Order: sequence, then C-alpha cells, then structure tokens
Amino acid sequence: MLNVEQLLSRFDPQTGEIAGVPAVERHLSDLRGCFADAAAYEQALAVDNPLVYTVASVALAGGAGDLNYAVGRLMPGCIGNEFYLTKGHFHAWRDAAEIYLGLSGDGLMLLEDEMTGESRVVPLRPHHVAYVPGHTAHRTVNVGPEPLIYIGVYPARAGHDYDAIARTNFRHLVVEHDGQPVLIPKQGKV
Ligand SMILES: [Fe+2]
Repeated sequence: MLNVEQLLSRFDPQTGEIAGVPAVERHLSDLRGCFADAAAYEQALAVDNPLVYTVASVALAGGAGDLNYAVGRLMPGCIGNEFYLTKGHFHAWRDAAEIYLGLSGDGLMLLEDEMTGESRVVPLRPHHVAYVPGHTAHRTVNVGPEPLIYIGVYPARAGHDYDAIARTNFRHLVVEHDGQPVLIPKQGKV
C-alpha cells in the first residue's frame, strides 16, 4: 500500500506547484519550431528567453491500471499574434486518453486527430473538464491575461511522443484577432 504522502498531493491552483515535486521548465528557447511565425520567434528570442510553461508530474507506479498526473502552468503571451502554447504530444501508447481540468486562467486545448488531421479546440478553464481521446495530438494554449493552470490525468503507461508532432507541428494555430482567439490553418490569414 502506498503511504499517505504518496496517496495525497497538495497543489497550488494559482502557481501550479505541487508540494515536494520539482517542475520541469520550458523557456522560449525550448520551443523552436512550435510557433508558426519563425521570424517573430527569432525576434522575440533575441530580446529575451522567458519562462513559457512548467509541468510538475507525479508518477508513483507504472502498472497497467495505474494513473499519473501532472499540473501545468502556461504563462500568458504571444509570438507574433499566436498565443503561448505547450509543445504538445501524442501518447506513445496511442490508445491512451487523458482528461484535463482547468484550475485557473483562460485557455484552450488544441486537438488534432492523427488519422484524419481534423483539428478542434475546447475550452480549458475552471469548472471545465476536457477529454482528450486516444490517437490525438494535444497542446494547451493560454488565451487569457493570467497564467493558465490545469491538471492532466492519464494512464501511467501512456508515455509521451513529442517527436511525431514536432516533425510537422500542428496543422492549425490559435491567434489573437480583434481581441479574440481564433483557430486558423497554419498557412491561413485572418
Ligand atoms: Fe497527454
């Protein structure tokens, strides 16, 4: 039996910190190739290399029925007119689904079906649960002025495949247009 410290985590819904769990940090320099406007990316990186997001993961056991979870914190900002985002990934075990619960801030989940390439966005904010089916690339996007904090729960055996989506990046992106987030095709204009 796991001990109480393992059975219970305490997290801060404002900072995304889980007590006692170190967070992985991703700075702008770690996100090369993720933003559609490469010139705007290089321009921003020449000025500063800000923290874009952190992920604190809890993985206690790796059995077939086990669950892992992670709290993410994605900062507000834009590269060009594209909102700050996470790298995004497929699960290495493609059948594995995941749920995301918004804790604070205002975000979107960008989903892309591996087979059809179909894209969809769903809100990620407090009181929302977003379901990510298997075989679906997923990334989070902060479309608000505050940090976006959320928790993702997924099968322990899901694994993370960052390379498959990194080769092409997502087919769609979320940009700011007239003060609103808009989903557009990568080559599109608003
Ligand atoms: Fe995932």
